[in-house]
Amino acid sequence: MTSRDLFDTTGEARREDIAPGAVLLRSFCRERIDALLAAIDGVTAMAPFRHMTTPGGYRMSAAMTNCGNTGWVTDRKGYRYSAADPESGRPWPAMPPVFLTLATEAAMAGGHPGFLPDAALINRYEPGARLSLHQDRNERDFAAPIVSVSLGLPATFLFGGETRTDKQQRIRLQHGDVVVWGGPARLAFHGVAPLKEGEHPLLGRSRINLTLRKAL
Ligand code: SIN
Ligand code: FE2
Repeated sequence: MTSRDLFDTTGEARREDIAPGAVLLRSFCRERIDALLAAIDGVTAMAPFRHMTTPGGYRMSAAMTNCGNTGWVTDRKGYRYSAADPESGRPWPAMPPVFLTLATEAAMAGGHPGFLPDAALINRYEPGARLSLHQDRNERDFAAPIVSVSLGLPATFLFGGETRTDKQQRIRLQHGDVVVWGGPARLAFHGVAPLKEGEHPLLGRSRINLTLRKAL
């Protein structure tokens, strides 16, 4: 089976509005799955997935790594961006070109032209792993949008408003889907519900999410 067989190839990527400034681009990366997975393998060969610790001392259930000029990290000292991988002391692997073009094109399709990310956080979820409700706010400037790419097992993405208590939409994210949020939605609270058990033809018992950001 080629990875294209996992999509219905009848049409365009479908665009679904989530909130002002936020859109879901269904199957947006279906043409470049193989390139994305090869690029992720290249990054994780140099900067392996690891479970980071929150400032409160909890081990995150999603495993993470980064590429680009800087990478998002957390430990007992807090959340921040770091130019070096704390595990190796070396710079993070370079951002693969396929990440850059996908990010720019998805942001444009989502109504945010001119986006060029300098950081990509790569999250790997296995069944049971989750990401609690948070805002992406360690970036220097909130003018740039967030581009979030889903691969592998489906997940329930929670997307709320600017306050933690705003009601959240529950959005089913499938292999190849991209969510873009910026402008009035840039500081929306979001998270991922515990991943359900499953077996994906390309990624097995896992979901990988790429979060492309302009952090610096
Ligand atoms: C994140 O907010 O960092 C990741 C979201 C996701 O995995 O879909
Ligand atoms: Fe996030």
